[in-house]
Amino acid sequence: MVKKCLFPAAGYGTRFLPATKATPKEMLPVLTKPLIQYGVEEALEAGIKTMAIITGRGKRAIEDHFDISYELEHQIRGTSKEPLLTEIRSLISQCTFSYTRQVKMKGLGHAILTGETLIGDEPFAVILADDLCTYKEDNVLKQMIEIYEKYQCSIVAIEEIPKEETHKYGVIAGHLVDNTDDTYRVTDMVEKPSPEEAPSNMAIIGRYILTPDIFEILKETKPGKGGEIQITDALLEQAKQGKVIAYRFKGQRFDCGSVDGFVEATNYFYKKTKG
Ligand code: G1P
Repeated sequence: MVKKCLFPAAGYGTRFLPATKATPKEMLPVLTKPLIQYGVEEALEAGIKTMAIITGRGKRAIEDHFDISYELEHQIRGTSKEPLLTEIRSLISQCTFSYTRQVKMKGLGHAILTGETLIGDEPFAVILADDLCTYKEDNVLKQMIEIYEKYQCSIVAIEEIPKEETHKYGVIAGHLVDNTDDTYRVTDMVEKPSPEEAPSNMAIIGRYILTPDIFEILKETKPGKGGEIQITDALLEQAKQGKVIAYRFKGQRFDCGSVDGFVEATNYFYKKTKG
């Protein structure tokens, strides 16, 4: 059973400066909802109620968001504005949130390792909130949990990207398993390779299910691309033992870590609300 979801949320969000100077990038809203709330909703819909959030300096707004604001509740009680808080109230009542800080920015792998005390010795999901995913039926994390239940090893979500964009992603190589057309046993993975070095055009997006042995591997993982401890490098160790599955998810993903992707997501959700 996957019962916990980790949200690495310590990064600076420099691509959105000056908006992210005093506001966490995870709190930037697509329409009226912050990115991280979409992520928490996805986890909850996938059956996960324990949210573990890796924060850093300047990220307190995230904790306040997932808490009751008595003053605000008092002000809007009984007014036409009250329904605007229905969704977030419901999340707060159904989930528990715990936090720990990443004191130094040493990469995504390091951020995930920082979560060890919150996760313990069990498989867990990871959502990178700036990859916003939509779906018609089961959301991406729910799809991945089904794959995890079958293979009982680490799972990464992938999508095909234009070859010239491989330098933005972790890129995998693998072979299809069990007569599927969307599930690969990973044989290689490289963090942000040039198009020439990339083993394929299948890129990892910000959804993972990780088995807890990843923590011991991360402790031994040396800084890689960009001098940072990379989750991709730690996963490669599991992949060498045949223990990583890549799953081409059903749905659409917006790269809300970039201004273009953020605007696309905003337009998409705006059109959706207008029917
Ligand atoms: C991280 C990972 C990368 C992955 C990407 C998905 O990179 O290191 O392997 O493909 O997330 O969004 P970042 O976008 O944090 O640079």
